[in-house]
Amino acid sequence: MTLLFMSKWDVAAEWHSALQALVPGLQFRVWPKGTGDPSEVEFILAWAPPPGELAKFRNAKAIISLGMGVDHLFKDPELPRDVPIVRMYDSDLINQMGEYVIHAVLHHHRRMGDYVRFQRQHRWKRLPMEDRQDCRIGIMGLGAIGADIARKLAILDFPVAGWSRSEKQIEGVESFAGEAALDDFLARTDVLVCLLPLTEATRGILDAKRFAQLPKGALLINVGRGAHVDEDALLKALDAGQLGGAVLDVMAEEPLPAEHPFWHHPRIRLTPHIAGQTNARTGAPHVAETIRRVRADEPLEFVVDPTRGY
Ligand code: NDP
Ligand code: OXD
Repeated sequence: MTLLFMSKWDVAAEWHSALQALVPGLQFRVWPKGTGDPSEVEFILAWAPPPGELAKFRNAKAIISLGMGVDHLFKDPELPRDVPIVRMYDSDLINQMGEYVIHAVLHHHRRMGDYVRFQRQHRWKRLPMEDRQDCRIGIMGLGAIGADIARKLAILDFPVAGWSRSEKQIEGVESFAGEAALDDFLARTDVLVCLLPLTEATRGILDAKRFAQLPKGALLINVGRGAHVDEDALLKALDAGQLGGAVLDVMAEEPLPAEHPFWHHPRIRLTPHIAGQTNARTGAPHVAETIRRVRADEPLEFVVDPTRGY
């Protein structure tokens, strides 16, 4: 059984050793130099392959995304349409995303930015404590990651709501579903967390109109994709005080260009797309299970619907 590893970002050796232990008879090849005969490749484990590259593997039985998001694959106009696309499912990555978002929420709620500033100024100053009931969190996207974070924040007793296409039943989390519910969802949200997949329906969804619907001074945490956000509208909303701040892990262009205004904006904190990073140890069982199911002719889990794009 031949699997081709295609990524300039992930560590091939880690995946090789994690998969070897789980997949009997594994032939692990590393693109580009170790690709060998393309007709022998049955499984592809990929992150952001160059457009046109995947179409060369005519006998592929499944393309497995190294990330939980799959927009990096749908960018390819020649993406094979007759091969199932399976997204990553990695419990450790889901936990990492939770750590990032909960850290950002608590940093904001406990006014840690102010206290760091006070320490630099040698000022012993106590600020009033915000009631957590006034820190209403709204999560756009209640999928594998968003639902997990919503649950964790609800356990911390924050008022939590989520917005998704279909209605959800999550203990302690108010569910808003569909376009028609978006206005009400935004109007009750003090901390907006974007955890949507990037699709034709969600590209540019966070624009001037949506920022204006949030309560004045709201915080944006974007860990979805940079292209969810209209960057000019975000800068204007921050400068006007409509948004109080933004924590951004993902950008429309990555790496963020050196001259980009986000780097030095006083109300933006940014990180270089590190909120969640696939862990070979915890992601490999899902890859091995996908291979097993294909070979046993059983239905696959975590298959992407190409018409929805997630
Ligand atoms: P899922 O596919 O499990 O869930 C997606 C959620 O978004 C679902 O609840 C879905 O609704 C909702 N949704 C999709 N389209 C719409 C729409 N048009 N309107 C309303 N809701 C919509 O995704 P994950 O939770 O696994 O991941 C979410 C995203 O997080 C990834 O696509 C990726 O972009 C990003 N990510 C970022 C990382 C980082 O390091 N910054 C790491 C990993 C992922 P429904 O349930 O009704 O279908
Ligand atoms: C992912 C990501 O989709 O790293 O997993 O963004």
